[in-house]
Amino acid sequence: MNEKVIPLSNLAHVGRAPLDTLRRPIHDLRISVMDRCNFRCPYCMPRETFHESYRFLKSSERLDFEEILRLARVFVRAGVKKLRITGGEPLLRPNLPDLVGDLTQLPGIEDIALTTNGMLLARHATELRAAGLKRITVSLDTLDPEVFARMSGGFGGVSEVLDGIEHARRAGLAPIKINTVVQRGVNDHTLMDLLAHFRGTGVIVRFIEYMDVGTRNHWNPALVVSSRELAARIAARWPLEPRERDYRGEVAERYAFSDGGGEIGFISSVSQPFCGDCSRARISSDGSFYTCLFATQGVDLRAPLRAGASEDELYEIVRGVWTGRRDRYSELRASMGANDLHKIEMNYIGG
Ligand SMILES: C[S@@+](CC[C@H](N)C(=O)[O-])C[C@H]1O[C@@H](n2cnc3c(N)ncnc32)[C@H](O)[C@@H]1O
Ligand code: SF4
Repeated sequence: MNEKVIPLSNLAHVGRAPLDTLRRPIHDLRISVMDRCNFRCPYCMPRETFHESYRFLKSSERLDFEEILRLARVFVRAGVKKLRITGGEPLLRPNLPDLVGDLTQLPGIEDIALTTNGMLLARHATELRAAGLKRITVSLDTLDPEVFARMSGGFGGVSEVLDGIEHARRAGLAPIKINTVVQRGVNDHTLMDLLAHFRGTGVIVRFIEYMDVGTRNHWNPALVVSSRELAARIAARWPLEPRERDYRGEVAERYAFSDGGGEIGFISSVSQPFCGDCSRARISSDGSFYTCLFATQGVDLRAPLRAGASEDELYEIVRGVWTGRRDRYSELRASMGANDLHKIEMNYIGG
């Protein structure tokens, strides 16, 4: 036997994914493929800011699919196992199923999700499923047409979104999750109807506490309905039982209706910040890398990409940024004067 023994110390770096300063790995990558949107939800892209002459990115400024794929490969090497395609409205991006098809083939990716406002879903659901997408999240804040119009900035309609959800179901996308942003006095009186509609269908409604993302949405803590308050209101009508989180860092707290009516979730980033387990990285449509939804600045990956950087060089940039990461904005929110910061808008880096 004459096997060459490699000292363990020489292997220390092999296969070890970077951890940030709070020992958090990178597990999820959220890719914004489009900064534009066909809605103007006041909590995300208020009309007074995102008006007709607002300067969105030119298509040459957005990462092309090849660039997105290269970055996704680099992030997989850094530990990413899950991708979420988002925006702006991702279904506005021409030929999106081509990108989905390529991303589903990436070795190391275990899960790909897509978040959409649902307006264009009826048209694209079958193609997305055929490209390899398995599940989908559709944002829908209410079934009441007037409240919907208020929360979408006057664009789109409940029936189109429900039709999109139906097409997703028929295309075999499962599970279908619904994201519902809750605002006190705006849509919270319509949530039982929303739940009654989806109970028993397998569709999972997840309530999101209204967050102070970006700087334009005039966030007011009085409009936040805490998940705890909402869960109590729901349980008074339909008793609930808690369910285990699927994995460390999962954002939604899960509950099941005790009568077998299915599952719901609560995303409580305001009342119960989950920074301690946050393993999410984000890339904006023009290729900036953000380590927090509430970041004030990103790191440009497009310039090195377009200057011909190798995947090793890009990996070193990502590793360097992640190992220096110390964000825990949601935990610090109360003491920081949230709206004074120049935070990045959500349509730009995605939810
Ligand atoms: C930025 S959107 C992008 C994808 C797509 N346009 C959509 O609406 O699903 C992603 C998610 O962020 C949520 N969101 C946007 N602004 C928010 C806010 N201020 N607080 C909580 N959630 C918000 C949306 O409701 C949506 O579910
Ligand atoms: S939440 Fe989604 S649909 Fe609404 S404005 Fe933001 S990006 Fe558009």
